[in-house]
Amino acid sequence: MNFARFVDLADLSVAEIRDLLALADRLQQHPEPRALSGRVLGLLFLNPSLRTLASFQAGMARLGGSSFVITSGHGSWALETRPGMRMDGMAAEHIREALPVLASYCDALGIRAFADGRDLAADVADRDFRAMAALVPTPLINLESAINHPCQALCDWKTLDELQVPERSRFVLSWVPHPRALPLAVPAAALHMAALRGHEVVVLRPEGFALPAAVMERARAAAHASGGSVAETADRGTALAGARIVYAKEWGSTSHYGDAARDAELRAQLGHWQISEATFAAAAPDCQLMHCLPVRRNVAVAEHVLDGPRSVVLREAHNRLVVQMAVLHRLLA
Ligand code: CP
Repeated sequence: MNFARFVDLADLSVAEIRDLLALADRLQQHPEPRALSGRVLGLLFLNPSLRTLASFQAGMARLGGSSFVITSGHGSWALETRPGMRMDGMAAEHIREALPVLASYCDALGIRAFADGRDLAADVADRDFRAMAALVPTPLINLESAINHPCQALCDWKTLDELQVPERSRFVLSWVPHPRALPLAVPAAALHMAALRGHEVVVLRPEGFALPAAVMERARAAAHASGGSVAETADRGTALAGARIVYAKEWGSTSHYGDAARDAELRAQLGHWQISEATFAAAAPDCQLMHCLPVRRNVAVAEHVLDGPRSVVLREAHNRLVVQMAVLHRLLA
C-alpha cells in the first residue's frame, strides 16, 4: 500500500493502518539509513512545535534524506493565509505563491496550520488546510490542522499496541484545564483513532466543551465499523470507572467558540478537572495516562502523575519519530 498524502488517519482502513504500523516496527528493528537518499522533505510551520518539528527532521535524516524548515515570520517572510486580503500589514508573502514555490523544492511537504479559532464550522470542515492542500502538487503531510493531527493519532495507536491495551477496553478522552482555549485537532484525532481501534470510548468534558456533532458522528461511525462505542458525559465518576486509558487533552469551549472572555469565564470554574492520582480511584488498576504534549504541569496534570508509573507520555512522544518514519517511507521510498 502506498499513498500520496497523509492528511487524515480516517483516509486509511484499519488494515492499512496496521500495515503502516508494521512498517514502523520493521524500521525500528531493521533501520534503513539509505532508504530516502537524495529525497528532500519541506516543513512549513505556521504555528510553534517541538515534537513535530524535531521528529520529522530526525526521521528524515535517519532514513538518509534531508529536510528544510520554514517557520512563518521567523527567518522567512511572514505568510498571509487568508484569501482576498489587501496585504498592507506584516505579512509580505501569500501562501498562494509560497506553497507552490516550497513544494517545487522538495519531494514532500508538511504543513502545520492550527485552527483560526473563530468559525467553528470552518474549523471542523478544515477549510483552511484544505485550501492550502489544493495548492500543493507534491506528496503532503498534515502536521496538525484545525481539526486533525494524523501523526499524533498514528503514534497513539502504536503506543496502545505496545502497551497491549485490549481493543475493547475503556478509553476516556478527558478534558483538562489550560489557561486559554486550545484547538480541537488532537481531541478529534484521538477520539477517531480510539473509535477506529475498537475501544469503548468515553468523551469526558464539562458542560460547554462538547465536541462538535460532526466529529462525534464520524467517530461513532468508525466505532460501529470496528465493534467499539462512543459515549459522551460530564460525569467524571461514571466515565472513569474501569478506564484502562485516560487520554488527557485541553480544548476550547465549543458553546462559546471564538469568544475568549466567555471561554475564560467557563474555564475559571474548572481547575478541579486537573488529572491527579485521585482521578484514577475507580479506574482499572493498570490504567495509564496519555497526553500528546506539551502539557502544563499542575494545571492540566499533576506532577506526581506525570512523573509516576501511570504516565506514558514520553513513550508516546518517542513514537512520533517511529511512526513518521513509516509515513515518510511510504510517501517517498
Ligand atoms: N504533540 C505535538 O504535536 O507536539 P508539538 O506541538 O510540540 O509538535
